[in-house]
Amino acid sequence: MSRSQWRIGIAGLGNVGAGVLNFLSERPDFAPAGAQAVVTGVSARSRSRPRPFDISNLTWFDDPVELARSPDNDLFVELIGGSDGPAKAAVEAALKAGKPVVTANKAMIAEHGAELAVLAEAQGVPLLFEAAVMGGTPAVKMLREAMVGDDVRSVAGILNGTCNYILTEMQSTGAAFADVLAEAQRLGYAEADPTMDVGGFDAAHKISILAALAFGCAPNYAAAEVEGIDQIDLLDIQLAKDLGYRIKLVASASRSEDGVLVRVHPSLTPIDHPLAQTGGALNALFIEGTRIGRIFIQGPGAGSGPTAAAVSADIADVMTGAVRPVFQRPAAALQPFTPVDPSRNHGRAYLRFMVKDEPGVIAAVSETLAEAGVSIESFLQKPVQDAAGVPIVLTTHSVAESVLSAAIERIAGLPAVIDRPRLLRIARV
Ligand code: HSE
Repeated sequence: MSRSQWRIGIAGLGNVGAGVLNFLSERPDFAPAGAQAVVTGVSARSRSRPRPFDISNLTWFDDPVELARSPDNDLFVELIGGSDGPAKAAVEAALKAGKPVVTANKAMIAEHGAELAVLAEAQGVPLLFEAAVMGGTPAVKMLREAMVGDDVRSVAGILNGTCNYILTEMQSTGAAFADVLAEAQRLGYAEADPTMDVGGFDAAHKISILAALAFGCAPNYAAAEVEGIDQIDLLDIQLAKDLGYRIKLVASASRSEDGVLVRVHPSLTPIDHPLAQTGGALNALFIEGTRIGRIFIQGPGAGSGPTAAAVSADIADVMTGAVRPVFQRPAAALQPFTPVDPSRNHGRAYLRFMVKDEPGVIAAVSETLAEAGVSIESFLQKPVQDAAGVPIVLTTHSVAESVLSAAIERIAGLPAVIDRPRLLRIARV
């Protein structure tokens, strides 16, 4: 059905909501379909909170579910956030009312995407979420639409701008994690509760969504292995640099005959690698297709303007009347997501042991590794001022992670080892 106007309801008026409202008020005719996109109703936690834009001419809804159901709008935009609660209730209400939904909510799509896809597809309406991953950088449409002619083998990249900003600052200023985080919070780059970002969970939501789009399976956030950056010591950033690497929070998903592996880990990337060169709050992603080969995209992963641009692109898609499967194929035909058995994981690693500076320690460490069958690739011992003990740093050739963990346990038990060992993966991207 072609219309001259689409009436839009927006729930959530934070940074992104403000960006969408501003853009649509200035450019209601932006969409290629030719119709006008006009915001008619809004909902947020507080009606009276001072805002740098005027909502007095819009219909206010205390309850986002009521906005979602209202017959006075044709398209519902969810920008509340959170995997469950009012965001999910409102999205379900809009879909049940047969209304297209645009959302930026990665937690909800990663954790409930499959059931929401069933609902949207049963109603024959689109459920779009370009802004959920990489903000303004179009990763979702690329995988869902542009890559369907290929079989994607893997996706891997930097999907959390807050972590990338913190790691970049630690590396360039020599400040510790806690100090950089506090400064990032003061500047508004990091949330008051930074757990979702620095714990790796935000990146895990995003890579779970990309895995679903890339491999045609349902998102399976529960199967993601997640490690954040909150345990990264400045010392490891400096020692990694001496070895020719930068530490980045790398989110990756790969498919093989063993199943699907989705993980988020701080990882060493060679200094001249495009991921190592992705600084500040930027995001970046490699996509590897069987026929297309490797694609690299980089851009802003957050921010009002870029994220609102992604939301607006989805609004424009809805206005064209196109209705696609929510993930790469219809919900009923999504492939089962078989996680790879963790005992099959292998890769190269960086290890650091703080040891007493006394004879025989290096021999004891390397003997333990040799007995376990772990092959050392490079080795560095570097006195550090004011440190209790000396760091021994080594990188390994590819090894089964279960074998490596057992060897590390044994080394941790040596009398000369005075702190918990640190293990970081070397990225395979
Ligand atoms: N908190 C996210 C980040 C931005 O730091 O990348 C929104 O997805």
